[in-house]
Amino acid sequence: MLNPYLLMSLLYLLVGLLVAADASLTSLNLLTWFSGLRWLRVHFITLGMATEALFGVLPWLVAARRGLPRPKTRWDIWLTLNVGLVILLVGIPIINGALIFTGGTLIFVAATLLAVQLWQMRGDSSTPARLSVRFYVMGLLYLLLGIIIGTGLWLGWSGPLRIQIPVEVHIHANNWGFLSLVFAGLLVDVVPRWSRRELASDRVINTIFWMMSVGALGLVIGPWLGGALWATVPGLVLHLSATIWLLGLSAVSIRRAGLLGKPGGWHLLLSYAWILAPVLVAPLILLGVPGFPGAGIEATAPQALIYGWVLQFAFALLPYFMRRFLAGEDSPRLGGSWLSLLAVNVGSGLIWASIFLTEQQAMLSGLGYGFFVLAMLPIAWEMGQISRSALHRLELVAAPAAGD
Ligand code: HEM
Repeated sequence: MLNPYLLMSLLYLLVGLLVAADASLTSLNLLTWFSGLRWLRVHFITLGMATEALFGVLPWLVAARRGLPRPKTRWDIWLTLNVGLVILLVGIPIINGALIFTGGTLIFVAATLLAVQLWQMRGDSSTPARLSVRFYVMGLLYLLLGIIIGTGLWLGWSGPLRIQIPVEVHIHANNWGFLSLVFAGLLVDVVPRWSRRELASDRVINTIFWMMSVGALGLVIGPWLGGALWATVPGLVLHLSATIWLLGLSAVSIRRAGLLGKPGGWHLLLSYAWILAPVLVAPLILLGVPGFPGAGIEATAPQALIYGWVLQFAFALLPYFMRRFLAGEDSPRLGGSWLSLLAVNVGSGLIWASIFLTEQQAMLSGLGYGFFVLAMLPIAWEMGQISRSALHRLELVAAPAAGD
């Protein structure tokens, strides 16, 4: 059974790779005639590669957890997501309000349809899937909020919605909300397949769910109200504790499953270093420590977050889902190589260094993106190989008998 989202995810990884190469060559002054849009650099990874893959695998994962037959592809969701994405990719670079509104609305519809589909699949209190479905649906609700704010960013909605720091609210809703919760749900659903036991008791998983959901809310309300510490600080503490708790449980299970001898296991765990890095420096920004490059961090840290955390997490799970859902393997292995592991973390470190070593900023940023390209190449090759052989097998099955 073909999963069209996983192929689109590969397409956006390849486009993301080209845009990262452009960012590297431009920063190193080796390619002056084309400087790509920063929006594309981030959203080919987040809205393109990651969102496509999540929309494609979540219904199949929930069905697998519940022992249900694989649901048919919902072409209404696939079409609204992909038509919306294409319209947005045209509208954002030229800042065309009508196109941005249309693209954002279509993606909003796709995310709503997926949330409803997953909620209807949750099952009763005895099914293991109901806990992970909560993470997925709460994550999608934060995505809906992120879409409204992102769509409204250049349509003047922030004023009427009384949002003080809209870009930060958008980033927090999408990363502390949408992706953090959905990634947590994935770990709850996938890790038991490797370690042969649930990640933790229902009570622990439930507590992590509420700590992360309420934490994300505090991290959204804070910048919405212009940096209200009464919301940001408890939000940060709740979300950070839930993330570290989840990470600890996952590390124990990944080690028990013998996956710490493989790059994929390290990709999953090390990726979280890059969502924790901004948290560790946040108090210094909030306290306005003199000489500390708060503005530089706010301008550049989102890119290290998306490439170091989102991209790296996907390096392990995307080839895994392709092997499982496209190639139909029973015990698919995680994606990644020692090269991708080294390159993506060196790249993220260099992007962070470029924030502090401002004189070498262009060189460090150029090298950082160069390492991201180096990290993406083996993953793109791995995913290309898996999809090519899976599609070939599908073509053989579908091929008409000789003479037909
Ligand atoms: C319909 C969906 C979306 C729209 C219309 C949208 C729109 C935007 C806009 C207009 C910006 C500001 C760009 C700037 O000022 O330079 C932005 C920034 C950003 N968005 Fe989105 N976005 C969407 C979805 C997402 C998703 C799903 C994520 C992550 C999961 C995301 C993550 C980010 C990040 C990290 C930034 C900051 C980029 C930077 O500063 O380098 N966005 N988005």
